[in-house]
Amino acid sequence: MSDAFINFDKVSKAFGIMTVVDNLDLSIGKGEFVSMLGPSGSGKTTLLMMLAGFESPTSGAISVAGKRVDSLPPHKRNMGVVFQNYALFPHMTVAENVAFPLRMRGASRSEIVERVTKALDMVQLGAFQERKPIQLSGGQQQRVALARALVFEPEVVLMDEPLGALDKKLREQMQMDIRDLHHRLGLTIVFVTHDQTEALTMSDRIAIFNHGKIEQIGGPSEIYDRPRTQFVAEFIGETNLLSGKVTSSSNGLLNVTLEGSQPIKVASTATYEPGKHVKVSVRPERIELDAVGEGQNELKVRVTDIVYHGDHLQVEVNAGGRRLVVKANRKAVAPEIGQDIVASFSPEQCWIVT
Ligand SMILES: Nc1ncnc2c1ncn2[C@@H]1O[C@H](COP(=O)(O)OP(=O)(O)OP(=O)(O)O)[C@@H](O)[C@H]1O
Ligand SMILES: [Mg+2]
Repeated sequence: MSDAFINFDKVSKAFGIMTVVDNLDLSIGKGEFVSMLGPSGSGKTTLLMMLAGFESPTSGAISVAGKRVDSLPPHKRNMGVVFQNYALFPHMTVAENVAFPLRMRGASRSEIVERVTKALDMVQLGAFQERKPIQLSGGQQQRVALARALVFEPEVVLMDEPLGALDKKLREQMQMDIRDLHHRLGLTIVFVTHDQTEALTMSDRIAIFNHGKIEQIGGPSEIYDRPRTQFVAEFIGETNLLSGKVTSSSNGLLNVTLEGSQPIKVASTATYEPGKHVKVSVRPERIELDAVGEGQNELKVRVTDIVYHGDHLQVEVNAGGRRLVVKANRKAVAPEIGQDIVASFSPEQCWIVT
């Protein structure tokens, strides 16, 4: 990441007695693509609204390129915004919609024509200039909104669930388009989504929100493969959580005895006192069935259910009274319900969450 470009310094926002953004610190580098992911009501939109200038913080400071922006009105912040409920103007044509931010900024007629054409070409809607929004599909409307956000060449683009209303195929197309624009124009993008796959595939970093705070922020693989807390592990992807007690630790390996006295090893750079209760997270796709390997954790399990997913099987097993979910590769021999088998995973593919 480059140096902090956008900076939130101890920013809080309260509506009445309810604090919805809570003493939040966040730095975003120039050209970075950062996604915000979190449950409904956790403060994502509020954060974006404060950055865009539609809400002001109750306390704390927001700066961009080293300058405080807290008291600047939205149109002085040079940020493009695409909000889900920030609809196109229905009475204006596509070209007029896209021209709007330029007219607000007092651009000349010739400049407007040139820039609108360029922006619409960029989202492949050059031929649609004279249409009204109602004559466009949902995805085309979203692309017009994107063109309108980009037409004045902002350095920062804020997007709040911009692809929420689109079907899967269109959504994937738009994800590629936005990623491409991000790279081509070197935009700094702050993106709110409910779709974890979208966050994982598009972002340089993902911030996981919980009750107005960032519970963890990091690159996609860091968030997915090494969630620090139970909340993050359960919020992004699926996970199995095993409760146990640390018995000893040496050389980056913890010995943990699971409830039911099954011992396993967990790779960990942190040290824990013997006797400490811990939760171990292991992703369904990290568990193998009936594959024996050196140094693996092995649990004797009974298959209780198998659900067909096309590209994989979701196998539910009972491990000493605990239900585990395993995402089984279709290349392996399919297990059968009632079968006793061994579920294994390596110490590196499970970790402690707090
Ligand atoms: N103008 C407002 N007045 C009062 N409360 C508000 C206002 N705007 C937001 N809130 C409250 O602040 C909290 C955070 O809202 P916010 O819109 O930031 O959540 P969010 O993370 O974007 O949720 P979602 O994923 O559902 O969009 C919610 O409890 C919401 O009801
Ligand atoms: Mg929201």
